[in-house]
Amino acid sequence: MTRKKIIAGNWKMYKTIAEGQAFAEELKSILGQTEHEVLVCAPYTQLSSLKKVFSGSIVKLGAQNMHFENEGAFTGEISPLMLKEIGVDYCVIGHSERRQYFAETDDTVNRKLKAALAHGIFPIMCVGEVLAQRDAGEAFDVVRTQLTGGFAGLEAGEATKVVIAYEPVWAIGTGRTATPEQAEEMCAFIRETVSGLFGEGTAESVRIQYGGSVKPANAAELLTKDNIDGALVGGASLIARDFKAIIDY
Ligand code: PGA
Repeated sequence: MTRKKIIAGNWKMYKTIAEGQAFAEELKSILGQTEHEVLVCAPYTQLSSLKKVFSGSIVKLGAQNMHFENEGAFTGEISPLMLKEIGVDYCVIGHSERRQYFAETDDTVNRKLKAALAHGIFPIMCVGEVLAQRDAGEAFDVVRTQLTGGFAGLEAGEATKVVIAYEPVWAIGTGRTATPEQAEEMCAFIRETVSGLFGEGTAESVRIQYGGSVKPANAAELLTKDNIDGALVGGASLIARDFKAIIDY
């Protein structure tokens, strides 16, 4: 089975609308042909303008978070309906920064996953251990628990649509990348866990990204591993030429 690689930028809380537009114009002009799926997950304020700039190009659009309800008294939140209206294709769910600073849990990840799928938004579900958990030999248990909780109650057909991003928290924004062997080992474990939950067919088709200090210099060694089907790129996705170099790894 050949899985289409998916290279996603995660801009986090960076770029104004004007800066985002300038990036999008530059990326469009330098991108050229690629067999990979490419997307940018931008702050909410930029989604409408990026949708316009990227229209007619291969670059898809993602949000970085969403609420699981369609509407309601949830001050400051954005619903899947609102994202769908803009034409968002993907949404990052359960990024470690949201788990750490905004009290997201496997249960909220699960609700958001279901809501995204119900609205035809493809979720990118983030999992990954913190350094103390890796040092204590708990990384695999932690990731298994996150997967089991996040996927609870889903059908195999739905699970296939979820992109899983393995992001060891100790490698995010630190410049300390997991070695390709560590990343591959965990991504293989994730595939095995998905197989246990949904069967081999789903495990073979589900796409698993690695994220954490991915940059042009290390993209190839990570992205050529058997079980790594893409990258979720933070810092290096803010510069169009770096992002393009990762896409062209
Ligand atoms: P980084 O971030 O590439 O800056 O390490 C990755 C992420 O948090 O998605």
